[in-house]
Amino acid sequence: MLPKRPHGVVMLLMLMVFDVSGAFVGITIGNEMSNLPSATDIVAILKEKKIQHVRLIDSNHQMLTALANTGIEVMVGVPNDQLLCVGQSRSTAADWINKNVAAYVPATNITYIAVGDEVLTNIPNAALVLVPALQFLQSALLAANLNTQVKISSPHSMDMISKAFPPSIATFNSTWNTVMSQYLRFPKDTGSSFMLNAQPYYGYVGGQGVFPLEYALFRSLNPNSQISDPNTNLFYTNMFDAIIDATYNSIQAMNFTEIPVLVTASGWPWRGGPNEKAATVDNALAYNTNLIRHVLNNSGTPSQPMNQSSTYIFELFNEDLRSGPESEKSWGIMFPNTTTVYSLSFEDVATTIPESPALRGMFCVANSSAPHSALKHSLDWACGPGSANCSAIQPGQPCYESDNIVAVASYAFNDYYHRTQASGGTCSFNGTAMMTSTDPILLANKLQLPFTSALKRRLRRTNLALKCLKGSRSLCKI
Ligand SMILES: *[C@@H]1O[C@H](CO)[C@@H](O)[C@H](O)[C@H]1NC(C)=O
Ligand SMILES: *[C@@H]1O[C@H](CO)[C@@H](O)[C@H](O)[C@H]1NC(C)=O
Ligand SMILES: *[C@@H]1O[C@H](CO)[C@@H](O)[C@H](O)[C@H]1NC(C)=O
Ligand SMILES: *[C@@H]1O[C@H](CO)[C@@H](O)[C@H](O)[C@H]1NC(C)=O
Ligand SMILES: *[C@@H]1O[C@H](CO)[C@@H](O)[C@H](O)[C@H]1NC(C)=O
Ligand SMILES: *[C@@H]1O[C@H](CO)[C@@H](O)[C@H](O)[C@H]1NC(C)=O
Ligand SMILES: *[C@@H]1O[C@H](CO)[C@@H](O)[C@H](O)[C@H]1NC(C)=O
Ligand SMILES: *[C@@H]1O[C@H](CO)[C@@H](O)[C@H](O)[C@H]1NC(C)=O
Ligand SMILES: *[C@@H]1O[C@H](CO)[C@@H](O)[C@H](O)[C@H]1NC(C)=O
Repeated sequence: MLPKRPHGVVMLLMLMVFDVSGAFVGITIGNEMSNLPSATDIVAILKEKKIQHVRLIDSNHQMLTALANTGIEVMVGVPNDQLLCVGQSRSTAADWINKNVAAYVPATNITYIAVGDEVLTNIPNAALVLVPALQFLQSALLAANLNTQVKISSPHSMDMISKAFPPSIATFNSTWNTVMSQYLRFPKDTGSSFMLNAQPYYGYVGGQGVFPLEYALFRSLNPNSQISDPNTNLFYTNMFDAIIDATYNSIQAMNFTEIPVLVTASGWPWRGGPNEKAATVDNALAYNTNLIRHVLNNSGTPSQPMNQSSTYIFELFNEDLRSGPESEKSWGIMFPNTTTVYSLSFEDVATTIPESPALRGMFCVANSSAPHSALKHSLDWACGPGSANCSAIQPGQPCYESDNIVAVASYAFNDYYHRTQASGGTCSFNGTAMMTSTDPILLANKLQLPFTSALKRRLRRTNLALKCLKGSRSLCKI
């Protein structure tokens, strides 16, 4: 036993180091709703979903108390309506820090303060107090000896970037050049980040058909429609990365470098008015699932492959009091009564869900008696909104079978189910799928499922019963 210990310790250290350097996914909690759940209920939800980072739009004291000793990292906010006071008076700023930050740390792990929200685009009249507010709050943190624990910045709208595409020549709207220069100096000097609300939903809707929906939803584009930046020849497979690169380039155009971008809000509405066709549950689920996968994969952006932006999903609860179009009230993954709108996993479904013991040896396969039209519909859903990894069943790929919908759908259903089961995914697909503990190869023989002999061969080859079906995540992984 003894010789094994050092190895265990090294492993643990490696895991910890790895953990610290990786980007994280958190969630935003707003306050524009008629009924907010109790702070203890909210914290219970965060724990249940294993969410380790939360952005509070304000500094709700019940929440700060309930978050104490949970290990959850907290970003608090100075709401826009308090910005004028904080930015005009040093003592008000000090008072704000004392009441909303110093009074709660270290029990509550407050690590960031977001000062205002989209100040330059939302309340341009307050533009001149933005940087003073940041500076006054920073001095107060310093006086309270909290300046290493807590970082300060201010979230910007992506509307600050006048022309975001191509990313290489993006610049901030020059109207704000003076304020922007002063603002950028602040994170540069204090080691903080540029905060960005990155919303491909608005980019997609505003583009009026210029950008494919797949590009906004992180679904791989077919090779003919991938979007490249003509100046850099960098290839963009999703709009989220393009927005972040546009931000890096806009910062650089102001002659600042090495300021990390922190995404303070990104999400997708699940319901909208009659003219908001892209606001659906399927799209919201696909966007957020793919966003989480993308951020946790840590692969950065095309121009900054070493720097993945951590991201706060927008948002935990629907905010029924938000103004604007119908969709504005429907960005939450839950209703304020804590009923789930759609089920979202905050872990990297592709890599972190180990073989769940309950699932080992269980397969979710297509029901061969179901009508092929229904199977086709379910297949499209699994590979689309369901975000199953369907690359192996694309034309030209190892598991593609043009005339075998049952085999192909089985692959997709099983992949979907094993990815999402831990977060509430089911093997139902409107009755077109079923669970089985029988190895699908044997099952195919027994039920005479129309798996082609080529697929069966592939499944059998080189212990595929072990290799392909291990973890049962895919029927055919070669
Ligand atoms: C707070 O979060 C920071 C950053 O992850 C971490 O280093 C620190 O240990 C945490 N502090 C507490 C008291 O949990
Ligand atoms: C820049 O900002 C100003 C002030 O908000 C606005 O009037 C103008 O339309 C913006 N320009 C662009 C190109 O977005
Ligand atoms: C950035 O630096 C270049 C070269 O020194 C200069 O021409 C340009 O005006 C500067 N841009 C800004 C926004 O300060
Ligand atoms: C990106 O990461 C590299 C390497 O860690 C670092 O040198 C650079 O400053 C980072 N860039 C930004 C914009 O944070
Ligand atoms: C994950 O990262 C690897 C390399 O770091 C990259 O090749 C792959 O495309 C990424 N996957 C996703 C889903 O972003
Ligand atoms: C929660 O609220 C939603 C939307 O108002 C409603 O459809 C649902 O039935 C409610 N659930 C419970 C348990 O009250
Ligand atoms: C399979 O599909 C047939 C026809 O739709 C249906 O009658 C049967 O109940 C389904 N089986 C399962 C296990 O869902
Ligand atoms: C189930 O069937 C209904 C009605 O035919 C359809 O609207 C829905 O999208 C289907 N769901 C799936 C997952 O295929
Ligand atoms: C999807 O499946 C392909 C083929 O099996 C694999 O190479 C790729 O890494 C998978 N991607 C993800 C994100 O799991």
